[in-house]
Amino acid sequence: MDERNVRIGLFDSGVGGLTVLSACRRMLPQATFFYYGDNGNAPYGSRTCGEISELVDGGVGALLGAEVDAIVLACNTATAVCAERLRGRLNIPVVGMEPAIKPAAERYHDVLVLATPRTAESERLRVLVGKFPQCNITVCALPGLAGAIEAYLTQGEVFSLAEHLPPAKPQAVVLGCTHYAFFRREIGAHYGVPVYDGGEGTARQVKALLGAAVDKEGAKNTKTNKSLHSEWSAGGDRRVNFIGKYAVENRKIYERMFKNA
Ligand code: DGL
Repeated sequence: MDERNVRIGLFDSGVGGLTVLSACRRMLPQATFFYYGDNGNAPYGSRTCGEISELVDGGVGALLGAEVDAIVLACNTATAVCAERLRGRLNIPVVGMEPAIKPAAERYHDVLVLATPRTAESERLRVLVGKFPQCNITVCALPGLAGAIEAYLTQGEVFSLAEHLPPAKPQAVVLGCTHYAFFRREIGAHYGVPVYDGGEGTARQVKALLGAAVDKEGAKNTKTNKSLHSEWSAGGDRRVNFIGKYAVENRKIYERMFKNA
């Protein structure tokens, strides 16, 4: 498939998926993106699976209406609860988030995984952790951090990151929630260790899924945010479309956080 004709839809409970959008945008600079953030219902992490499924179906439905060729669940919580069901139902690829435990566990023994309560308790994460029995992997559910980051970015509500982080002495930290990636540097500084997040890996998977033609073009065209910046007109990044009730807010945050990254 020619990358220029590819339409990719990303879904998140709110602003967290913008970190994945940025990674996908760099990996597939010619593709067109549609972002749906369900900010009014964020955070999802402490909701029931039934509620999350219903909300995800609404957002995914809006993305299907934009005639996308693939859906990226740019949300670990939505992936944990809905990915398998959506794959069985939709006839386009559904790419989910996977906490970057593999690269962390290949280098470090004591790994701390931070995630929302629904992700932390999920079977999907349990199976993933079980693949690295040689490591000491601690999964910690953070009930308030995604909501605090959402409120900080959308309403400027200041919060204390340290109050949300569990006391621990890991050798590496894995971010199991796309919202946390906005604070990757600060979380790394708090623990004094390397931090892994799944954004780049997901973007690579999207690219691989869309086929060899994209791969060839993409390798030639992979761009940094800086070089993309010059392509962004005064009206914003034309290849990225924001849909849904919070489209304007999400575009503003995306441009504020990534335009000069
Ligand atoms: N950003 C999402 C995740 O990766 C959802 C966080 C939330 O809404 O609780 O889990």
